[in-house]
Amino acid sequence: VPREVCAFAPGRVNLIGEHTDYNGGLALPFAIAEGVTVRGHTDTAPRILARALDLGEEAEFALAEHSARPTPDTPPVGWRAFVRGSVAELSDAGITLPGARLEIHGEIPQGAGLSSSAALAVALGLALLGLADAELDRRELARLCSRVENEWVGAHTGLLDQLASLFGEADTALLIDFSTLELSPVPLVLANGWRLATVDSGDRRELAGSLYNVRRAECARACQLLGVDSLSDAQPADLADLPEPLGRRARHVLEENARVQATVLALRGGDLAQVGELMNASHVSLRENYDSSTPAVERTVRELRGAGAVGVRMMGGGFGGSVLALLGPDMPLPRGAHPVRPSQGARLARPLEK
Ligand code: GLA
Repeated sequence: VPREVCAFAPGRVNLIGEHTDYNGGLALPFAIAEGVTVRGHTDTAPRILARALDLGEEAEFALAEHSARPTPDTPPVGWRAFVRGSVAELSDAGITLPGARLEIHGEIPQGAGLSSSAALAVALGLALLGLADAELDRRELARLCSRVENEWVGAHTGLLDQLASLFGEADTALLIDFSTLELSPVPLVLANGWRLATVDSGDRRELAGSLYNVRRAECARACQLLGVDSLSDAQPADLADLPEPLGRRARHVLEENARVQATVLALRGGDLAQVGELMNASHVSLRENYDSSTPAVERTVRELRGAGAVGVRMMGGGFGGSVLALLGPDMPLPRGAHPVRPSQGARLARPLEK
């Protein structure tokens, strides 16, 4: 049966809980309104024909050739790696995909730390599943999309972005416990003039991939030395034994987990000023303990604080990209600031079955 589907997956903002996902810790992200849309049609030819509308680029490959893993001689590049990876990972998961034409359109700036990449992978996954008339548990799909990024795109990211994109709800932040993948909704209603906004630092995250991977390796090494499976299991008292910079990395993770819990309490108590304090403290730790800031990010944070923002922090992988600001009722929107609000997560529409 020919099918036509339209999948949408949003980007995400992380209110707090940075570099905790791959450390078995806590984070509090939400899905934003902007995202990536993938329209798909089944096709009788056994191939995938994909078009990136915003780039005016096209890619075509036979369904049979997709599962060849990338090798160092054939490095995957850009959006095509996501398409090939999604097709391969879904096939490996036992899903029989039909030939298809895909049209991709995104409205999230790339490299700004708003997870345009996770949105692309999730939208592709949902569209291809829809075309195959198959379903996958959403946590499984999050893991699959993360494998696409890890193994096909080469970014060793955790599950934060994919889970936020897949499970987002309006006016709600998601408390994620990465030791169990348990998700708890926490109301995040921005009322009485309070706003959250992202501001691009202007620094593109070109180095981010590699430095992010270095941080992951440092955390893995710290776990080894401490004899724990994940840093969130470490005891604060044991961190003194770690050589630097591993001690600071681990301290960030444990303190950031505590800040996530404190933020949930502050939100439940309606204390947004306290949320702002916790955001500020998160930023300082990311700069001082995690060494993931850049001069442009620092400048952006200083300007926003100077203009009166209640809380400001770098967001996502760091090393550039956007910062997140919590703006109190009297504060005008700073220049270049883009308001964000917690929005519904990824969804599939199937307009027509012919
Ligand atoms: C990036 C990664 C996430 C997470 C954050 C840091 O956004 O994709 O998995 O590790 O960095 O919190």
